[in-house]
Amino acid sequence: MIYSRIAGTGSYLPEKVVTNSDLEKIVDTTDQWIQDRTGIKKRHIAADGETTCDLAEKASRNALEAAGITASEIDLVIVATTTPDLIFPSTACLLQQRLGIAGPTAFDIQAVCTGFVYALSIAEKFIKSGSHKRALVVGAETLSRIIDWSDRNTCVLFGDGAGAVIVEASDEPGIIASHLHADGAYESLLRVPVGVSSGFEQMIRGEGYVEMKGSEVFKMAVTTLGRIVDETLASTGLQKSDIDWLIPHQANIRIIKATAKKLRTPMDRVVVTVHDHGNTSAASIPLAFDTAVRDGRIKRGEILMMEAFGGGFTWGSVLLKY
Ligand code: UT7
Repeated sequence: MIYSRIAGTGSYLPEKVVTNSDLEKIVDTTDQWIQDRTGIKKRHIAADGETTCDLAEKASRNALEAAGITASEIDLVIVATTTPDLIFPSTACLLQQRLGIAGPTAFDIQAVCTGFVYALSIAEKFIKSGSHKRALVVGAETLSRIIDWSDRNTCVLFGDGAGAVIVEASDEPGIIASHLHADGAYESLLRVPVGVSSGFEQMIRGEGYVEMKGSEVFKMAVTTLGRIVDETLASTGLQKSDIDWLIPHQANIRIIKATAKKLRTPMDRVVVTVHDHGNTSAASIPLAFDTAVRDGRIKRGEILMMEAFGGGFTWGSVLLKY
C-alpha cells in the first residue's frame, strides 16, 4: 500500500494589513460588529501588482525548505485557487516556471473555499496510484480583487494569502481518508456572477464581485461540516476522540465553534487563525496548518481532521496522520 505523508508545510501572507478600524472608514461597520459576528480582527491584502502566483511561490518555497527538498524533486504541482493570475496558463504552470521545474504534471483546481481539500485529496490519489511520488499542493488567493469594497456584507470577511504542503509517497500513513462533495443547486447563495463565457465584458471592466447570502450560507455550512466529519470518521473506524487537531476552513469563528461543539472537540484542539487573516478561501486551511506546525502545537504522529465548505457549494474533508 502506498500512503501519502506530509513532508513539510509553508505559508505566506502579504505585508499590507487592513484592520477592522480601517474598514470603519470606508463602509458602515464597526470593529465590534466584525469581531462579534466573525472573529476577524484584520486581513492581509496583496499589494498592487502582487499576484496569486507571487503568494503561492513564497508559500511553496517555505514548504520546500521545511521538507528539506529542492523543487527539482517535485513531480506534481496542484494549485487550488479561485483567483488565478491569468485565464491561462494555469497558476500551477506559472508557479512551476518560477520554481524552475520543467516537466512535472501541473494544474489548477477550482473548488473555492474547499479548493485545498480537493487538491490534497487529488494529490493523494495520484501518489497512491504509483504514477507520482512527490507533490507540491498549494492553496493561494487574492480574493481582494473580486471584493466590492463598498459592500459591508462581504468586504469585511475576506483576505489574501497562500499556504502550501509537500506530500510524498510513504510506507506508513499519511492521509487516511478524504471525502469530496458538491451540490451546484446552491449557486445563487454564493458566487461571482461574471466569467469568461458569460459576462466577460463586465469582468474586464472589473465589475464582478463576490455575492453572498451570508446567513443562508452560514446555516448550510454548520450542518454540512458536522456531517462530513462523521462520514470521514465512519469510513475509518476512528472515533471523534481520536482527532488530535481539527483544522477547519477559516471563514467565521461562529461556524468553527459550532462545528467543534458538534464534534465535542474542545476549542484548544481546534486551530483558529481567522482573526489574523479573515477568509482566504483555498488558502485558509494550509495557512492554519502551517501556523500550528511552526508554533509547535501540531506534532508528528498526531491525527488531524481538515474540513471545508464553500462556493459551489463544495465541501470536503481530509483525515491524516501528520
Ligand atoms: O467561505 C465559504 C463560505 N462563507 C461563509 O461560511 C460565510 C457564512 N456567513 C457568515 O459568516 C455570516 O452569515 C456573516 C458574517 C456573513 C453575517 O453574519 P450574520 O450573523 O449571519 O448576520 P446577517 O447577515 O444576518 O446580518 C445581521 C445584520 C443585518 O442588519 P439588519 O438587517 O439586522 O438590520 C446586516 O445588514 O448585520 C448587518 N450587517 C452589518 N453590520 C455591520 C451585515 N454586514 C455588516 C457589517 N457591519 N459589516
